[in-house]
Order: sequence, then structure tokens, then C-alpha cells
Amino acid sequence: MLHASDTPETSGASAPATAGAHHTESRPPTGRAARHWHLDDIDWGAFRGSAVDPRLLAAVKTAAVVEANSADYVRYLDNVFVDDPAFRAAAARWGEEEAQHGAALGRWAELADPEFDFAAALARFRAGYRIPLDASESVRGSRAGELLARCVVESGTCSYYSALRDRAEEPVLRDICHRIAQDEAQHYRLFHGHLAHYAREAGLGAWARLRIALGRVGETDDDELAYAWFSAVEATRPGARYERARCAALYQRLAMSMYGLAHVRSLVSMIALALGLRGTARLVRVVGWVGWQWLRLRSSASFAGG
Ligand SMILES: [Fe+2]
Ligand SMILES: [Fe+2]
Repeated sequence: MLHASDTPETSGASAPATAGAHHTESRPPTGRAARHWHLDDIDWGAFRGSAVDPRLLAAVKTAAVVEANSADYVRYLDNVFVDDPAFRAAAARWGEEEAQHGAALGRWAELADPEFDFAAALARFRAGYRIPLDASESVRGSRAGELLARCVVESGTCSYYSALRDRAEEPVLRDICHRIAQDEAQHYRLFHGHLAHYAREAGLGAWARLRIALGRVGETDDDELAYAWFSAVEATRPGARYERARCAALYQRLAMSMYGLAHVRSLVSMIALALGLRGTARLVRVVGWVGWQWLRLRSSASFAGG
């Protein structure tokens, strides 16, 4: 059951409210009107250990270290958009929010598993995985490509945290994931607004957008998530050894199993909008359904095989 208070992005009910952004010349606002939430806003005393699902716990531990590593991405974006102070300021605030997501998820994971040491897991992850910090140009080939890739990532995180929230029975985790999903929708709007500006400048057409988006989707099995899984879930087990393909497959299939049809449709809708596609409601429904069936097959095949 989805929350009645969801934004369209977090419920999967319809296309994001950024539709029409392509027609505006203005850049998106760089700040939030409302105060952003803090860790102290979470009712940690409401935690119920008996309601913790171990599969969700493993997913949360992995997500926590990835989110908490956001400072590196801010530095990277700072380099790529070196002469755009408005965007750099917005990216700095974005990075603070992502770091807070990591802190909230890490704190919850420590509550759910007293043996989990979030700081140690994060240190392991950072020691073994770093993005190209000193890049002066986007690894996507252009600033528009970079922003499109960020839109794909935020589409993924928005739908993923919505899915975790809807799976979770533990009330504190539900609250945290709901807050994070709303932030991710806002991040999508931030990057999408700047994408409209840079895509015009770069003349980024539909095919180029599709190529970049598919490339970023394909990176979900790369080293970042695989090593995050290892660092947060496996590394403290006796005889633990990092095997990229195995860790990537384990995490990816766990994550896939969290999604419901509404979450997949929300994801497809947000990516379609970032690609500049219009009038795609029917296509989103069909592609979302096919994608959901594919996720169900992949995740059930994995768990059946151990
Ligand atoms: Fe996040
Ligand atoms: Fe985000």
C-alpha cells in the first residue's frame, strides 16, 4: 500500500511534476523553501526490533555506505561544473542531504544489528572504492550527459526507497525511507531543471540521451554497489573474500526483489521524462509491466538458486 501523502514521483501514480521544464528558460531554484529534516526528527524510540526483516537490513546497510560516500561526488561535480556557481551551490546542498541519508540508514542498521559498525563499514568501502575525483570533464562526455545520468540515478533511488518503505514493517525504517524517497524526488527535479538548460546548449538529442541513460542503468552491476555490499554485509564474516561478480549479483537481485509494479512504473516514468519523451503514459504502463515481470523473474531465479 502506498502512502496517500506521496508525491507523484514516490507513489508511481503519474509523471513527475517537472513536466514542462523543457519549455522554461529559467534555471531551477537552488534552495528549498521548507526546512530540511534532521536525524533528530526521527522518532528513534519507536523502533521495534521484532519487525526487522534481515533482507531489508542487508539492503539498508549497503545503501547506507553508498549514500554516506556522497562527498566524493560533490567534489567531482564541483570540477565538472567549475564555472557554474549556482549549480555548485545546489550540488553542495544535495551532497549534504545524501550524506544525511547515509547517516540515518546507518544509525537504523546499528539499532537493528548491534554488531554492525557503520563507521567501520564506511571506512572499508572508502578504502576500496573511489570515483575519479580529479576529472575536469564529465565521464558522460558532456555536462548535459552528466545531469541526465544524475536524473537516472535519482529516478532509481526515489523508486528504490519507495519500494523499501512499502516493504518495511519496522516503523522507523518506514519513516526514514519515506523521507529519503521524497528527497530523491526533489534531487531529480534539481538535476532535471539544470539538464533542460545544458541540453539546449549541447544540442543533446533523443538518441544521445537514450544512449547515456542506458549506459548509466547498465552500471548498476558495477563495482560501487558490489563493493558496498561486501563492505557492509560480508566483510566481517570469517574467511570473507571480495568477488565482484558474485557480490554484484547478490545485491542487485536483492534490490530487484523489493520492487512492486507501481515502483517500476514510477522509475520508467521519471526516466522517460528525463529522456524528453512526451505523451508516453501508455508506453510507461507497458514498459513498466514488462520491466516488473523481468525483475520478478531475475530475483526469484536468484533466491531459488541460493
Ligand atoms: Fe540519497
Ligand atoms: Fe539523491
